[in-house]
Amino acid sequence: MQNFNKPILAIESSCDDTSCAVLLHRCVLSNVVASQKIHSVYGGVVPELASRDHQKNIVPVVFSALKMAGVAVSDLGAIAVTQGPGLSGSLLVGLSFAKSLSASLGIPLIGVNHMEAHVLAHLIDDAGGNKPSFPFICLTVSGGHTQLIQVNAPNQMEVLGETIDDAVGEAFDKAAKLLGLPYPGGPEIDKLARLGNPNRFKFATTQVPGYNFSFSGIKTSFLYFLRDREKESPGFISQNLGDICASYQAHLIHVLLKNAEKVLISTGIGDFALAGGVSANSGLREAVDVLGKKLGISTYVPKFEYCTDNAAMVGIAGYYKWQSGSVDSLDIVPKTRMPLGK
Ligand code: KG4
Ligand code: ZN
Repeated sequence: MQNFNKPILAIESSCDDTSCAVLLHRCVLSNVVASQKIHSVYGGVVPELASRDHQKNIVPVVFSALKMAGVAVSDLGAIAVTQGPGLSGSLLVGLSFAKSLSASLGIPLIGVNHMEAHVLAHLIDDAGGNKPSFPFICLTVSGGHTQLIQVNAPNQMEVLGETIDDAVGEAFDKAAKLLGLPYPGGPEIDKLARLGNPNRFKFATTQVPGYNFSFSGIKTSFLYFLRDREKESPGFISQNLGDICASYQAHLIHVLLKNAEKVLISTGIGDFALAGGVSANSGLREAVDVLGKKLGISTYVPKFEYCTDNAAMVGIAGYYKWQSGSVDSLDIVPKTRMPLGK
């Protein structure tokens, strides 16, 4: 007999953040995130180092989430854990820990899709204002994904468009690397862009069919732009950093929202949500607000702590799966690729 009135413990370890949250129904009692700093010197996540750091962090992070929530291990009703997509060695740490806990406590294990969790973060009770109503359109933008999703129900999502090459988070991070900024570069570009002119420079756009996106051509055009300008006038990058970041960021936002607008008009759906790490971007948040006003629709942007990777979103996704009877056996394995609904 399941007791849905008991708290869920949720674990996220798909990339370089070790996180644990405790939720009671849709309410977050604690959400602890240990972000790995070790990767910044390498300019990107080093998978082997990430899994080692998860090993070091997982126990203290879980203990601190339980302590902050005021919940004892024996009070827990279920364990939710990210099963994929993500880095194999990173996922293994969270999944193995969750399996052991589930086996020792004799409570259900729920494997969660990380991308579905980003979307469902909107349904957390204190996610930040009103919740979107079903069906809604969600633009999910992270370091590994860029998708336009029609969300019909917590367990029913349909991908309407997605990137055919790089994710928009990569377009931010790789551009930042070319500019000599630390990893992750998205927040750095965001900060510098606030001081610059977004209309000063223009970059190429790659046309792709349907509601899909392409970012690899934009990144290459950015590389050539920097190389040519720096050659013409040495010191160009450092003297124009604000305008470069503002113009590049504005271009990425334009590409993202052009397709989102087309989807919103063609489906006639009046609720539009933003999810994933890049939804922390201040320019994108403002542009979504402007788009909502232009189309006369409601827009939803999660609180900062539920934008980048966190276990609270895994907990809410696990809560809905638990309620729908979708629990897993102890032989589930990490899935480096995991389509929505799997
Ligand atoms: O969702 P997330 O935390 O991890 C993945 O699942 O990938 O997203 C990480 C991505 C990175 O590319 C990071 O640069 C980007 O989100 N990001 C931002 C901002 N904050 C995080 N990109 C632009 N502006 C930001 N403020
Ligand atoms: Zn993520």
